[in-house]
Amino acid sequence: LRNCRICKKEAIVYINYANISLCSEHFIEFYERKIFKILKQLDLRNKCILVALSGGKDSVALLFALYKLQAIFNYKLKVLHIDLGIGDYSKRSLEVSAKLTEKLNIPLIVFDLKKEFGWSIHDAVKIIRKPACSICGLVKRWVMNKVAIENECDYVATGHNIDDVNTFVLKAMLTYRPEDIIRLPRPILKPNLEVKLAGRIRPQFYATERENLLYTLVNGLDTVSIECPLARDAKSKKYRQIWEEIDKVNPVGKINFVNTIIKIIDKLDTGEMSDIKLCKICGYPTYSRDICTFCSMRMRIDSKLKNEES
Ligand code: AMP
Ligand code: FES
Ligand code: ZN
Ligand code: ZN
Repeated sequence: LRNCRICKKEAIVYINYANISLCSEHFIEFYERKIFKILKQLDLRNKCILVALSGGKDSVALLFALYKLQAIFNYKLKVLHIDLGIGDYSKRSLEVSAKLTEKLNIPLIVFDLKKEFGWSIHDAVKIIRKPACSICGLVKRWVMNKVAIENECDYVATGHNIDDVNTFVLKAMLTYRPEDIIRLPRPILKPNLEVKLAGRIRPQFYATERENLLYTLVNGLDTVSIECPLARDAKSKKYRQIWEEIDKVNPVGKINFVNTIIKIIDKLDTGEMSDIKLCKICGYPTYSRDICTFCSMRMRIDSKLKNEES
């Protein structure tokens, strides 16, 4: 580690893709500028952003950065924590989320799956034969959108980082799932209130996992360090290791990889949006089918639980 490129004080981090060393103060500036660049593409004055806070390092860093940038953009913040009902992991996640929102004085909405649906993710994985993370992801996306619409929020902000995105793309390619790449999460998705679809922002789209962690550390923020016990996706972890190797060979590779994909899919007209309808059951958007994927799954879980009761 050399000295900070900007102030010459002792550096705490070396950013390989930019070839700069930074002290904590200038790292914070560097990091927040990254978030700023995504947000400035939108007019956020008087808009409401619902921050999806899990309590993990990514979303904790996200909430804190959005809190600090609030004065520049003049948006309103609300926070959503979804209690997934996964034992101690969920207890600790709620605790961290409650403490942070209290400290920042931002309203926290807790959506407790067990209370709202009568089942938790823990119960759902025993019934639906799909990887826990894909069940969980489906439920989370539906809940985030519903809570945003009900609370008059224009956007949902999530803590996805460039390592998540790259791993997602690599995995989709290696398992031949071109449809996943076409639906690649983007930094910004505009709201479509006519079909009750809140907008999405992923302000950390170009931030690395390591930068998110460091941002929580330099700001003294508490995060959940235990991993979700249901997430046994060993493959994703291995794909992440492949990225570490690529990173050593070409530090700009991660950014170029995702930007290449985005450039290609932007040239495609997938026509997906034109197919959008409202689900006959929940009234939230669905693509092509009459009943959304979430409601179909929910019906299966409900009927299974009813059968077990009788
Ligand atoms: P994951 O799908 O677990 O990688 O999480 C991606 C993003 O979704 C996180 O950065 C959060 O913004 C959001 N998120 C994940 N879990 C929760 C939760 N239990 N409550 C609210 N938001 C969540
Ligand atoms: Fe979703 Fe563990 S947090 S499966
Ligand atoms: Zn400095
Ligand atoms: Zn539905």
